[in-house]
Amino acid sequence: MNIAVLSGSPRRKDSYSVIKRIEEKMNATGDVAFEYLKINEYNVKECLGCLQCIIKSEKLCPLKDDVSAILDKLKKADGLIFASPVYAISITGTMKKLVDRLSYVFHRPELILKPALTVVTTYGGGVRPTQKYLKMMATGWGCNYKGDLSVASPRYFDNSEYYSKKYKREIDSKINTLANRFYQSVVEKNRPVPSLYELYLFQGFKGKSYASKADYDFWKERNWLESDYYYEVKLNPLKKLFANTLEWLIKKAFERYYKS
Ligand SMILES: Cc1cc2nc3c(=O)[nH]c(=O)nc-3n(C[C@H](O)[C@H](O)[C@H](O)COP(=O)(O)O)c2cc1C
Repeated sequence: MNIAVLSGSPRRKDSYSVIKRIEEKMNATGDVAFEYLKINEYNVKECLGCLQCIIKSEKLCPLKDDVSAILDKLKKADGLIFASPVYAISITGTMKKLVDRLSYVFHRPELILKPALTVVTTYGGGVRPTQKYLKMMATGWGCNYKGDLSVASPRYFDNSEYYSKKYKREIDSKINTLANRFYQSVVEKNRPVPSLYELYLFQGFKGKSYASKADYDFWKERNWLESDYYYEVKLNPLKKLFANTLEWLIKKAFERYYKS
């Protein structure tokens, strides 16, 4: 199996070392090839804000660089790891620059059911917003989100007496658990029942199709306008009620917005 690692770090240090451990663990289970896509080693130009990709088609983007080649690599991989250190309480600018350029993928998701992990490294703070953003990104692009590994780098990597060994043991145990879960989800290619959060994002992005013909055509072609999720799945009555109510509310909000 091929795993693509999309990394927002400008260096091969903390997040790289954490992912290497996941790679080692997965390779102990089966034959796994990791490809590290270090965004800063690619030509990724800053979005010009013309909105053509969102409104009409990504083919109309005036920028010529490596963005579509990076997306192709993500599409071809069997599983994905999205990794970023915390910079100023968020993902790095390097990563955000790429995500901005791929904004249209939130409207027209292309990574359906691709198992994905997120990895966040930090000196100590900012984990929650960074992890939340990466989870939203993976889910919004259609991935099958399998969990997050957030690591306070000094506490994990420094062997000084200053840090308790318990933290390191806990992270090592989480690496084992997540590596196994990730490996199995790639092998089994299962179609999990979406969480409330996943249903919420699905209905939210479906709402975009009420305002854009490009999105409408894309969603219609895939029969997603009539469905509860990107693939056929049986929702329990509570989730069904949640999804239907949300869909109704979003539709009404769009109608009101465009009629007023
Ligand atoms: C410009 C910059 C901003 C940072 N901002 C934060 C921050 O807001 N909070 C924090 O806890 N750590 C912050 N850090 C520390 C990194 O998140 C931390 O060193 C991380 O382990 C680096 O991972 P990497 O080696 O994979 O790049 C920052 C580091 C840099 C270089």
